[in-house]
Amino acid sequence: MYTDLVMDHFTNPRNVGEIEDADGVGQIGNPVCGDVTRITITVDTGDRIADVKFKTFGCGAAVASSSMVTEMVMGRSLDDAAAVTNSAVAEALGGLPPNKMHCSNLAADALHLAIQDYLVKKGRQAEVGQVLPSLPKDHGPSSH
Ligand code: FES
Repeated sequence: MYTDLVMDHFTNPRNVGEIEDADGVGQIGNPVCGDVTRITITVDTGDRIADVKFKTFGCGAAVASSSMVTEMVMGRSLDDAAAVTNSAVAEALGGLPPNKMHCSNLAADALHLAIQDYLVKKGRQAEVGQVLPSLPKDHGPSSH
């Protein structure tokens, strides 16, 4: 039921953990199941993601999605990272079973919240709407 790529990222997840003194933190819960993903990023002076890590309290599909999104955006510009959608993550994994598609929402949403958190912390609120036109609603960056 899961692709080999999902199983690979689940059994050998990349970029697990939490960056200390991260430039941006995003955390989001899944309204369907209550699982949670937290993504921390550091951003270099060229507005590129220098490092990204995740922690997921959730199912295998959520772990695999989070792991995949960190690989997709490592070293990429904030604009590129912001353009990564939930469905792109699921596609990159070779697809997820229909009843597990909601699990992929955590990864991109948490990443986008981390980017928002970074921009706000840098006093660049005005750019949030441009960089992230479809920010997930009602889940602000966590207190940390
Ligand atoms: Fe909760 Fe998959 S069942 S994220």
